Amino acid sequence: MKKFDIKELPKAFNIEIDSIASDKSISHRCAMFSLFSNKTSYIKNFLTAEDTLNTLSIVEQLGAKIKRDGSSVEITPTNTLTEPANVLDCGNSGTAMRLFCGLLASLDGAFTLVGDKYLHARPMKRVANPLRSIGANIDGRENGNKAPLFIRGVKELEPFTYHSPVDSAQVKSAMILAALRANGVSKYKENELTRDHTERMLKGMGAKLENDNEGFINIHPLKGHLKPLKITVPTDPSSGFFFAVAAAITPNARVVIKNVTLNPTRIEAYKVLQRMGAEVNFVENENIYEPIGDIEIKHKELNGVVVEDNISWLIDELPALSVAMSLANGKSLVKNAEELRVKESDRIKSVVSNLEKCGVNYTEFEDGYEITGSEIKKATIDSHGDHRIAMSFAIAGLNCGMEINDTECIDTSFPNFKEILDSLYK
Ligand code: S3P
Repeated sequence: MKKFDIKELPKAFNIEIDSIASDKSISHRCAMFSLFSNKTSYIKNFLTAEDTLNTLSIVEQLGAKIKRDGSSVEITPTNTLTEPANVLDCGNSGTAMRLFCGLLASLDGAFTLVGDKYLHARPMKRVANPLRSIGANIDGRENGNKAPLFIRGVKELEPFTYHSPVDSAQVKSAMILAALRANGVSKYKENELTRDHTERMLKGMGAKLENDNEGFINIHPLKGHLKPLKITVPTDPSSGFFFAVAAAITPNARVVIKNVTLNPTRIEAYKVLQRMGAEVNFVENENIYEPIGDIEIKHKELNGVVVEDNISWLIDELPALSVAMSLANGKSLVKNAEELRVKESDRIKSVVSNLEKCGVNYTEFEDGYEITGSEIKKATIDSHGDHRIAMSFAIAGLNCGMEINDTECIDTSFPNFKEILDSLYK
């Protein structure tokens, strides 16, 4: 079991970081969406972490030719996809498993999706049920709710009108991918906009997706192939956020996260840090599928904050935000975040049980927690096999020292996290 022994940071840092992991959501989608073209897709800065490399390898098992040189990837699909001889391993990734359900549901063949023990514990009926209702043939453990999932592709799916009870970009994306091969125009609605990389990328490739004035996305089935992707994947704002919190909690510190997506559905947590008192500046430099630029974060004294809106826009950053909340003046509240219970771990439990070890006062709710800010004490943290828990408490360690157990999981999204963390001490 890999462990971190984090030492208290002796001095402030002032750095610009251009080596933070590439965006995970966009990298998964690059690999998958390249299958909708008949030409080679060229992807630069593909995230070479476990989760996204698993997705790339599934795309290869489905028959695409992959050329990879570090983080530069060329994907050339074949005309007819191959029925894979082996199970398709999604590792730790809910995004991979759920999006592949939508993509494979109408492909000719049988497919088995598996993952690690954490992924096998996560609910899949949120995608499997709506897909079944349009004719998909998907089964799995626990009445079809848990992986391994078995998919027997059907010739054609029914077009649908679906208002999702859960605000999830993974569910939305799975349904959009299925709709591309349905036999008519489908309509999908969510209560609040979730991250919209799927819509932006597919539209950029030539797919017809339109928003109507009743809040539905109208998805037209594909008439032929889409244009290939030519993309440089921006930095992942969720990975960058660990270092944003590092700067926010360290007196006199400053950090700049370079070339990050400034998609509004992804940077809400930075705005919460701003509301807490940190100085945060966004500078947009270009727009390729998404606005891209730099985010500068400077330390200022932090105050407590209430987080109860736009939860899906900051769901992945709540563990790191809880570290900032623990060091802020006064109480902070997180509400309406029950989705945290079904992430890579039950993140409400993983956050509060570790905060308790660090001597932080909190109250747990079914859909969030209240934290009384004061100080964090050094403790031995259990990551619960969850990359974002391990990295959040490693950042807390800059303040007071910390031992983190079971840190292998960090490789699923941010393999050079520790290297960048160590550079803060130089
Ligand atoms: C993701 C969507 C989010 C997010 C996950 C990545 C995506 O999950 O938490 O890390 O790439 O679509 P949900 O859509 O299930 O909330």
